Amino acid sequence: MSRACEYLKREEKYIGKTIGIRFYPIVVDRAEGSKIWDVDGREYIDFSSQWAVTNIGHNNPEVIEAVKKQLDRLVFSSHTTFPNTVAIELAEKLVEITPGEFEKKAWFGLTGSDANEFIYKVMPIYSGRRRLLGFQGSYHGQTMGALSLSGHKALTRFIGFPNTVKAPYPYCYRCPFKQSYPECGLLCIEFLENNVLENAPSEDLAAIIVEPIQSDGGVIVPPPEFIPRLYEICRDREISLVVDEVKVGFGRTGRFFAVEHSNVAPDAITIAKPMASGLPLSAVVGRAEIMDAASAAHLFTSSAHPVSCAASLATIDFILRENIPEKAAKTGAYILKRLNEVYEEHPLIGDVRGRGMILGVELVKDRRSKEPATFETACLVYRAYELGLLITYVGTYSNVVEITPPLTIRMEEVDKAMEIFEKALNDVEKGLVDKEKVKKFAGW
Ligand SMILES: Cc1ncc(COP(=O)(O)O)c(C=O)c1O
Repeated sequence: MSRACEYLKREEKYIGKTIGIRFYPIVVDRAEGSKIWDVDGREYIDFSSQWAVTNIGHNNPEVIEAVKKQLDRLVFSSHTTFPNTVAIELAEKLVEITPGEFEKKAWFGLTGSDANEFIYKVMPIYSGRRRLLGFQGSYHGQTMGALSLSGHKALTRFIGFPNTVKAPYPYCYRCPFKQSYPECGLLCIEFLENNVLENAPSEDLAAIIVEPIQSDGGVIVPPPEFIPRLYEICRDREISLVVDEVKVGFGRTGRFFAVEHSNVAPDAITIAKPMASGLPLSAVVGRAEIMDAASAAHLFTSSAHPVSCAASLATIDFILRENIPEKAAKTGAYILKRLNEVYEEHPLIGDVRGRGMILGVELVKDRRSKEPATFETACLVYRAYELGLLITYVGTYSNVVEITPPLTIRMEEVDKAMEIFEKALNDVEKGLVDKEKVKKFAGW
């Protein structure tokens, strides 16, 4: 029996299923750059960055150095009561690099969900308005407030809080209004303004929260006018606009923050995943008056952890100094071009889309009917794993392969990964994948 198998048996016995989503039987041992090795010594190219966390590569030496230094100086003080210097330095930095010329402040937590939970809790207090608006298909996190703001099927299975409403997101490949862009004139925004806001009157709407690219919803890149139009609606009605950059921030889209492509400054931004290169940390950066709206309203003992904050400062330095967003734009454009070439040869692919280094490949049984090829998608990511490439899938119909490599990946690794991707796709099309093995990994 392989060591991975052994570990997975022990995992099954001792760790509850609530913790994860599984696509294949991997157990990770170590990682470096864009590579991961499993407990049996097999090497993989990580085209997932562990759900878009390791933007500057696994075990980035500069981050490790900063963490080691911080460990020697101070492992922990509880920022709730005993503030640490590193969190203050990081807050200054985040205020400096986030869009918006107004006075801003930061809050710190541990994971993306708690940052969006902040929005759920604090925005109504700040505005004196009770309701919040999110989007169908959105993923904001697993805690009760964050899931109530979300429209992703993994979260709508819970009832959530009733003071949230959802509007359709511009999923143009499967437009809910059966329109085509740009002729539609963004009917989804009109619908939001004229219909959804009827049910959630703006006088009682505290905030709209939006992902600049809906990632777990299926790597959906909205038309360029979408965020600016949303911003106008918010500004005209004094509703706060919150942008969830938990997954797409920190250089991934070709800008430091994805919302910078839209040239608007939201009232608050939530960030997490890549901000400390894998150490647990999240933040909300927003207008000072929002951040000060309620004292001691959202505090956790180990928020603003000094070691995570040190890792985050090193991560930001690296991204800025090495022009990582620019590199992400270039490498992403190259991967998108390669994926479009694969699209030409493989009818199983219905759509290829993305921005920078968040890319989606939507699989369909038939390009005309667009019937989702859900099981084939599971087979594809499974086969890619067998061949040495780590990818996952997302989307309302679980049929969108998500490609989010480390932004520092080398071009020869990209080429190797694309070779494996195409081989895996060929094998799926030829029925060469063991379906019984795939069925054991339900994904989501
Ligand atoms: C856009 C977005 N927001 C929030 C979250 C929740 O973050 P976490 O899983 O770190 O709690 C995720 C997780 O995938 C996400 O993609």
